[in-house]
Amino acid sequence: MPASNIVFTVANTEPRNAQDWQQVKRNALNLVASGEWLLSSPANKDQRVWQQSANTLLAAATAVAKAADANDVEAVNNAGNDLYASCESCHAHYPTKPNFKSY
Ligand code: HEC
Repeated sequence: MPASNIVFTVANTEPRNAQDWQQVKRNALNLVASGEWLLSSPANKDQRVWQQSANTLLAAATAVAKAADANDVEAVNNAGNDLYASCESCHAHYPTKPNFKSY
């Protein structure tokens, strides 16, 4: 969640300098690692929604990292929408804890 919040914040507050963009990229790469980890979890290999959501997360996070390299706000936000959709689709299908709040 902290990593994705950094990405979602770009919709409200544009990165101002190279350091800000670097931070967006670093957090996107953390999300790429999360996506890889979610995909590799053996218990979920045959679960369609899980695989789709994790694949979407991985692709969206990869796109955010590329967009951050290009200092492209619009591309970060577009990929951010896909990223958000991946969180929602997985949580809609798999149980989260009571009192769960996405953001
Ligand atoms: C592939 C499925 C999947 C995807 C994609 C996914 N999640 Fe989750 N998430 C889960 C599951 C399952 C749980 C519940 C885990 C548990 O209760 O042990 C969870 C729990 C959480 C929690 C609660 C953790 C806690 O300790 O209570 C947060 C916060 C969260 N997810 C954020 C996100 C965000 C933000 C994204 C997207 C960037 C995301 N998740 C994408 C499956 C997913």
